[in-house]
Amino acid sequence: MKHLIDPMDLTKQETDEIIALAQDIIAHRERYQGSMSHRKLATLFYEPSTRTRLSFTSAMMELGGNVLGFSDARSSSVSKGETVQDTVRVVGCFADVIAMRHHIEGAQLYATEVSRVPIINAGDGSHSHPTQTLTDLLTIQRELGHIDGITIGFCGDLRFGRTVHSLIKALSRYRDIKVILITPDELKLPDYIKHDVCERTGIPYREVGTMEEVMPELDVLYMTRVQKERFLDEDEFDRVKDSFVLDAARMSLAKGKMAVLHPLPRVNEILTEVDNDPRAAYFRQVENGKFVREALILKLHEWKDDPEHGMPDQEKPVFDDTRRCTNLKCICNNERAPHKFRKGDDGVLRCWYCDSKIR
Ligand code: NCD
Repeated sequence: MKHLIDPMDLTKQETDEIIALAQDIIAHRERYQGSMSHRKLATLFYEPSTRTRLSFTSAMMELGGNVLGFSDARSSSVSKGETVQDTVRVVGCFADVIAMRHHIEGAQLYATEVSRVPIINAGDGSHSHPTQTLTDLLTIQRELGHIDGITIGFCGDLRFGRTVHSLIKALSRYRDIKVILITPDELKLPDYIKHDVCERTGIPYREVGTMEEVMPELDVLYMTRVQKERFLDEDEFDRVKDSFVLDAARMSLAKGKMAVLHPLPRVNEILTEVDNDPRAAYFRQVENGKFVREALILKLHEWKDDPEHGMPDQEKPVFDDTRRCTNLKCICNNERAPHKFRKGDDGVLRCWYCDSKIR
């Protein structure tokens, strides 16, 4: 069965198929109405969301299906201490597909181990957000007409911004991508993305300290919010919260055909004076998110019993009783998920669920 926990759970071809289907849905919406009638999507949101949850809901409604679930885990049995695995076992009796957001990293991957219906990761902690990635890819394709060959600048909180981590992974499959990381020291991209993704797949990247020095090179500027809720130290948040702000003056340095993306919500990193610039694509991006989720729901349903579309062959987990994942936000430190690891080509051991380096 196909789940979508990490963007790399989809092959490049499957990713392209989903994007192509989303484009077809945009062109011929009437053809898809009713295609999921009598089917149910469960949205299990353990962490706040506006866009992602409503986008899933609206996508399923457009397809003629129904939606159930919770947007506040305190109103569910979670408040009685139910584990994510038990919750998905139960919900799998009611729904055909589950979209889950969780503040604990690896929660959805752990849930797939027992689920009898496809699980879609709608964001796990600071780790991954693969449906935002599909949204971003569709948006780049529609705004620029191509994804291959782009220079993309990621700006803001690249440390905790899960949408950035997932999009860089997915871009590693396209040709001639160049990545520029625009970030203060405190918010730099995690090592596992730099080394395991950029260096291993040969994506050139460089880190810079100002937007101005790179604006003229960019085809895409991907802005992000500083993720207040992920900081353990409030003073640190206060120091970096206003690091990078996009305004009309900075936009004047950019190419005439650049696209500005932002997964939203924005706080103050893009001034509203930019909103009417034709290159500001972030509200169109929201709408693309609904179409791509429609396409994803249809494809996961189509692929459900097709052995050609299983999960990618993963290496076998390594068990080592002498080591533990030290990420306090990982599922193995929050529920009884086993401490298990994967060993990369570089010999480095990483947590199976959250990708943290194991020392
Ligand atoms: C993002 C998320 O939740 O990671 N938003 C979204 O899904 N559209 C980005 C964010 O919260 O800053």
